[in-house]
Amino acid sequence: MFEMKKPEAAVSKQELYADLLSQAKGLLHDEHDQVANAANFAALLYHSLAEVNWVGFYFMKDGELLVGPFQGKPACVHIALGKGVCGTAAQTRKTQLVPDVDAFPGHIFCDGDSRSELVVPLIHRGEVLGVLDLDSPKLARFDAEDQQGLEALAKVFLDSLR
Ligand code: SME
Repeated sequence: MFEMKKPEAAVSKQELYADLLSQAKGLLHDEHDQVANAANFAALLYHSLAEVNWVGFYFMKDGELLVGPFQGKPACVHIALGKGVCGTAAQTRKTQLVPDVDAFPGHIFCDGDSRSELVVPLIHRGEVLGVLDLDSPKLARFDAEDQQGLEALAKVFLDSLR
């Protein structure tokens, strides 16, 4: 059985993400189902990262984003392409690092506690499969190191799919 490591407070972000990468590979390598792996992946990140209030997926369906497996409070179900931080990441295929959600035009409020956000687009076989979304109740919670770490983690998820 997979045993999640306890999050350690004192490690550097570099060590944290290196460790999460190997945990994610261990967690996903035996399975190729998108929903199963998205669910376990969201749980791993939510319980390993400090100061996050929502971690999860939106997947493209019928030309828009539809909420997928996540941890956190119930969220918005449909997001149009180009709308909010998630729709922007999906449309531009570029990670959105938002230090202050109030300063992002069109930000969609799902959880009123969210102050900063990081959204990584998921590109699978050249198509936008969806996005990985992380919210924090802390302003500027995510930096370039988090972006790099989470982009690498998103790749582990994508590589696990058939
Ligand atoms: N804030 C996001 C919506 C999704 S929730 O944060 C879970 C956005 O603006 O796209």
